[in-house]
Amino acid sequence: MEYLNMYEKEIQSSDLTMSPPTSEPERQYYYIKKAREIVAAKKKELNRDLTCHITTFGCQMNARDSEKLLGVLENIGYVNVEEEDADIIIFNTCTVRENANQRLYGHLGQLKNYKKKHPNTIIGICGCMMQEEDAVKTITTKHKHVNILFGTHNLYKFAEILCNSFDSDGVIVDVWKAAEGIVEDLPVDRKYSFKSGVNISFGCNNFCSYCIVPYVRGRERSREPKAILREIERLCEDGVTEVMLLGQNVNSYGKDLDNPMTFAELLDEVEKIEGLRRIRFMTSHPKDLSDELIEVMARSKKICKHFHLPLQSGSSRILKDMNRRYDKERYLSLVEKLRKAIPDIAITTDIIVGYPGETEEDFLETMDVVERVKYDSAFTFIYSKRTGTPAASNPEQVDEAVVKDRFDRLLAKVQKYSKEQAAKHVSEVTEVLVENVNEQDDSLVSGRMSNNSIVHFPGDKSLIGKYVDVKLVECKGFYYIGEVDGNIR
Ligand code: SAH
Ligand code: SF4
Ligand code: F3S
Repeated sequence: MEYLNMYEKEIQSSDLTMSPPTSEPERQYYYIKKAREIVAAKKKELNRDLTCHITTFGCQMNARDSEKLLGVLENIGYVNVEEEDADIIIFNTCTVRENANQRLYGHLGQLKNYKKKHPNTIIGICGCMMQEEDAVKTITTKHKHVNILFGTHNLYKFAEILCNSFDSDGVIVDVWKAAEGIVEDLPVDRKYSFKSGVNISFGCNNFCSYCIVPYVRGRERSREPKAILREIERLCEDGVTEVMLLGQNVNSYGKDLDNPMTFAELLDEVEKIEGLRRIRFMTSHPKDLSDELIEVMARSKKICKHFHLPLQSGSSRILKDMNRRYDKERYLSLVEKLRKAIPDIAITTDIIVGYPGETEEDFLETMDVVERVKYDSAFTFIYSKRTGTPAASNPEQVDEAVVKDRFDRLLAKVQKYSKEQAAKHVSEVTEVLVENVNEQDDSLVSGRMSNNSIVHFPGDKSLIGKYVDVKLVECKGFYYIGEVDGNIR
């Protein structure tokens, strides 16, 4: 793909007879060139292609990071494969809840035998979990078949880390405690040709009391608007029509820049990019949701009719303890403003059940917000204790059986409203961006509406990446069955 080879000239001009440059990204271009030579020699020796496989856990931010890792791997000559039995196997980890960690250890256990049979396989682990000392210690002592460990702050050094591991028999551990600036302009291979995530900020400053993200992703850093706009322009030239702007709190974008800019101002600029048809963003913190942003959304032709507004809890007392810096009333008034300005907007959320000290009364406040807002969909999570966060040392941890009961009640309510909301749109004709051929039934294709709902309808792979007017014939709970009704663009 052309985009993958965008930096070819720079990579070619690296001089491997010299010592590596100290500036970035030039240093990584040097290591990409060096790694290419090593991979080419190995391919010749084995008389076959070398393969790679990346397993990604966690959020959209991690998914985007994996596209960057794959960009480097393909650039140096690896072929991406679906199966895990590859020459290089990478796990990009998440640690937001305990079960994410358990899943990684499960995978690693399974790989022990594989590695015995294929001793030359390189196993690498990166991502948020590697920013935790205990996890690194567990892996280096109990999973000695792992070759490379690196963290979130030095992901851009992947080519260099790989070169080091080619030269070494032992494990390479390269984890930084904090970020050192943002490195741009490295190869990326995105999963979809027609849509892409675009980082607008990294890290988080909010320190919600339950959350590990600020500890593993570091302080909030905004990318320069010029760099963001240039990236989106290039993506559009390469066939992308939908972008998802990514940040842990997009609403506080730009406050840390030398020339501060608001998120709403950034959106106005993104809107002007030719060829771009849809703009999404994730995630919005209610405390920083401005009237200016709502105005920009209301007049925009490209921003999708979907707002993900994490609630976490409906109890103002719990929200205070969570350090969320809004209360129930403020949250509900934001929802009201959004619905008034953009009547057909879909609102989705994240909710945590069983936060330390949560009483039945607190929980009923959450249920009350769900009843009032009638979310189009909601991710519901059982509180997971993260060592090092303030909430973890709260002595009032809620009994497991009580949490499970609340979780089931909440889920039933959430599902009831999301069905009701979805049913409202039946028989409407709406524009769908086709994403893929349906996995269960290949006579159908699947795509997303502006409001992020999924629609399956008859079609073939020629429709992938196209915008199709679809009539929503039947609502199946949280997705629709439709039929083409009008234009295909
Ligand atoms: N920055 C985003 C959230 C990123 S994490 C925001 O503030 O909205 C995604 C979701 O995981 C959170 O919204 C929260 O609902 C959930 N989460 C985070 N930490 C958790 C924990 N310790 N236990 C359970 N759920 C958690
Ligand atoms: Fe975690 Fe809160 Fe930051 Fe979201 S805003 S990543 S929940 S600390
Ligand atoms: Fe998980 Fe890291 Fe995202 S902890 S949710 S992958 S920022």
